[in-house]
Amino acid sequence: MRLVLLGAPGSGKGTQATRLREHLQVPHISTGDLLRAAVKADTELGRQAKVVMESGGLVSDEIVLGMLEERLTTGDTGNGFVLDGYPRNLAQANALDALLGRLGQPADIAVQLDVDTELLITRLAGRAQAEGRADDSPAAVRHRLQVYTDATAPVVEFYRNTGRLACVDGVGGMDEVFQRIIATLAPTPEIG
Ligand code: AP5
Repeated sequence: MRLVLLGAPGSGKGTQATRLREHLQVPHISTGDLLRAAVKADTELGRQAKVVMESGGLVSDEIVLGMLEERLTTGDTGNGFVLDGYPRNLAQANALDALLGRLGQPADIAVQLDVDTELLITRLAGRAQAEGRADDSPAAVRHRLQVYTDATAPVVEFYRNTGRLACVDGVGGMDEVFQRIIATLAPTPEIG
């Protein structure tokens, strides 16, 4: 299965992608993780991305698409993948369809995790305390949420309009949300 996971910062994409990876036996590809690895390795790309990420903005479409294409062509996605953090705007959504079309691996479904803003802020504040991720500061979180509303929310409509969207309530225990996702992926039993 080729699954695209959508949702605001803190909605649980990374948390659920880890579970889905085990369940579906496919790689979890996170553009946030790929970028953080480049920052950590202090590559040229990582240096360019660092400042943007810490402010809560989006890294350039060109950089992220190049990185994603490299990752998708490493040869381990024959059984599918869980893509987390991409696409984040309509240009990326179109670029992804084109890339996956070229690779003969079109996305099967996009799963949108729905969580209200107040809870997103509470979760990210909790992670800021526990892990100290640079972009979990209150100012960066505000910016990330605004970027989500302005640039990423239209991507949800993109998948809805192309008949590939499943919306899942992302409020509740991690396992509870996971069970909801799995139920969405299960084929509907035929009646009669
Ligand atoms: P990215 O790493 O993708 O961050 P994000 O989308 O902001 O998402 P988060 O990792 O904050 O949240 P999540 O939805 O994965 O939730 P999580 O499971 O971690 O991107 C970071 C940055 O990289 C971007 O801002 C941008 O600069 C750049 N970037 C990445 N992709 C890009 C792209 N395509 N184009 C351009 N730039 C890009 O959970 C959050 C917290 O909540 C955790 O502490 C978790 O334990 C907790 N939690 C999760 N689920 C639950 C639950 N059910 N109950 C209670 N707690 C929960």
